[in-house]
Amino acid sequence: MNTVRLHVNGREISAEAEPRTHLGDFLRDELRLTGTHLGCEHGVCGACTVLIDGQPVRSCITFAVACEGRDVTTVEGYDDDRLMQLLRAAFTRHHALQCGFCTPGMLATARDIVLRLPQADEARVRLELAGNLCRCTGYQGIVNAVLDVLQQQRDEPDAEVLRLRENLRSAPEAGPRPRVVARAEAADAVASAQVQAPSASVGIPVTTSAIGAAHQMVGQAPASAPAASPSAGASAGAKPKGNQIEAAFDVPFPLDDVWRFMGDLPAVASCLPGASIESQEGDKVKGRIAVKFGPMAAAFAGAARLERNDATKEAVLRGAGQDTLSQSRAQGDIAYRLEGISADNTRVHVDMVYSLQGPLAQFSRSGLVKDFVRRMVADFGRQVTVRMRGGDGATEPPRPIPMARMVWELLWGRLRSLFGARR
Ligand code: FES
Ligand code: FES
Repeated sequence: MNTVRLHVNGREISAEAEPRTHLGDFLRDELRLTGTHLGCEHGVCGACTVLIDGQPVRSCITFAVACEGRDVTTVEGYDDDRLMQLLRAAFTRHHALQCGFCTPGMLATARDIVLRLPQADEARVRLELAGNLCRCTGYQGIVNAVLDVLQQQRDEPDAEVLRLRENLRSAPEAGPRPRVVARAEAADAVASAQVQAPSASVGIPVTTSAIGAAHQMVGQAPASAPAASPSAGASAGAKPKGNQIEAAFDVPFPLDDVWRFMGDLPAVASCLPGASIESQEGDKVKGRIAVKFGPMAAAFAGAARLERNDATKEAVLRGAGQDTLSQSRAQGDIAYRLEGISADNTRVHVDMVYSLQGPLAQFSRSGLVKDFVRRMVADFGRQVTVRMRGGDGATEPPRPIPMARMVWELLWGRLRSLFGARR
């Protein structure tokens, strides 16, 4: 058991929890805050959504121990929140609940929409609410309630809501705050996790997550970070098992220029929205990447090594990382091969193999996620071209991926292919 200290609904809480205890269970079973509902317990239905440091988070796939030092707000703690007061009144006006099972999670997501997207229209509100399921199918009332509050805030902005929006804008974008833990404490966590390893035989791999988390606390790469063989060529080494995605993009530059560019890791990272490199030592880097896909958001911190074969123009980036909040671990290889398709044009073939462990693992199997990654690769290709051209915008951070448009295009593409297949 670990002692977890956190602020829940404005109160300092210190309670015992097993490393594998999810925040949802912790809130309900330890703190008796049963307003947080559990539906799927797989991160899909959104019923368990609570606010952590003001951001909506699924408590069923977040370990309680990962929330050390955070501010957690559940539906029982919304009374003094001005925006929640407005949303609750709107939910009542628009009959936006029937059995009420989904309502705590709906409110948390609705609050986020009003703060983050002041100009959202109905289509955008529906898209943003897509990660919260209502069994009573009361969506029309819920959407109307959110639109009502958005309109109110456009017509007569509330000072407190404006302040909350300002806070959100000025908050660092780097994802979840790391835990502040003394190095000795982190080392103890590694030791105790290793001692406990044999007992963790079912469910989420708690002990290995704890080891990874402890390494992260002391600023090291997770223990599972793959070590590349010193003499390995780009194609050497066993291919990891996992989900595989192949993609390609063309760059209007000669092969040698593209090869040089792709060896510059900070430049490559600057083409990937959400990615940043924190340190580099030769071909080894440490960094983080933030990913948001529909209801899921994760910020993986980890380490990677680039192996390049100048003769064959093949390379592989081997890496592993961990999401601070859900403690999910990702490991994978991104291999690429350059092919000169003309004197001034190069095709980059990408072969990605990755595996996810922990609460987010269920999302790695979805076809939608594979489509999403292919789109990201295509977007990355466009950014490479912009950077290599070096014109306007080349020194600016990459523009964010238009998530709403991308998700809509993916869904629309799938519907079209379904419709076409039946004709
Ligand atoms: Fe369904 Fe958490 S219970 S997302
Ligand atoms: Fe019943 Fe949404 S109101 S599940």
